[in-house]
Amino acid sequence: RQWHHNAVTPARHSLDVVAHRGASDDAPEHTLAAYRKAIEDGADALECDVRLTADGHLVCVHDRRVNRTSNGRGAVSTLELADLAALDFGSWKAPAGETEAPDRDMEDAADPDRTSVLTLERLLELVVDSGRRIELAIETKHPTRWAGRVEESLLALLTRFGLTEPPPDEPSAVRVMSFSARSLHRVQAAAPLLPTVYLMQFLSPRVRDGRLPQGVRIAGPSIRIVRNHPEYVARLHRAGNAVHVWTVNEPEDVELCARLGVEAVITNRPRAVLTQLGRR
Ligand code: G3P
Ligand code: CA
Repeated sequence: RQWHHNAVTPARHSLDVVAHRGASDDAPEHTLAAYRKAIEDGADALECDVRLTADGHLVCVHDRRVNRTSNGRGAVSTLELADLAALDFGSWKAPAGETEAPDRDMEDAADPDRTSVLTLERLLELVVDSGRRIELAIETKHPTRWAGRVEESLLALLTRFGLTEPPPDEPSAVRVMSFSARSLHRVQAAAPLLPTVYLMQFLSPRVRDGRLPQGVRIAGPSIRIVRNHPEYVARLHRAGNAVHVWTVNEPEDVELCARLGVEAVITNRPRAVLTQLGRR
């Protein structure tokens, strides 16, 4: 499958709304159901974390281990895709509006879109099949463990979908994010047209002046950084960088980000944020 590079390009918004692990407040994070909901809600982009399985598949899982988000145990890197496919990645999460996960027995089959492990390939297919232009913000998790294999596999897959070389004058539909500058540099070396996002949990002295690691033009500060150092956004902008803030769930934080003129907020609640911004 190939990306529809020029399919229904929506108007650019001054503040993009990015669905963090899908619409992860409403559906189990990183499942097809969470991403479908984010697309339905009208999110501009989808955020997803990727990890390599023992047999070399990229799957959308946040934690190193599957313990929190599935009924299994163990590190993703030690499990094969078939092992992950046998697990339930959704039943831990209560349906929207309820506080407890449903009590299911074997007869009461769960919706596979809510419970199956999601490969990055399947997520790309979902976006292609939606026929809409939705951007993807893909975060490489634990890239140091694999000495380049996460990035290599990611770029091979993106190349297959025609996503590593956006047409001239068109913004890239994909950006790669990481807390690891080394991971971003590997991506830049192999795919210089893909934008990269340097994520930061705390404001470290190395980036305090607003300049980012070589070649990176998008900063990804946590909302905590932005709350504690709102002036940092202007410093990043003055240094020529865009600013994508995570994870922005509270209305007052959305308002702060909008006031500071950040380019994107990454949120578990895309619908609520779009409503607050008057886009729904
Ligand atoms: O979008 C960036 C954000 O997702 C980084 O933190 O822990 O949610 O992956 P984490
Ligand atoms: Ca992430």
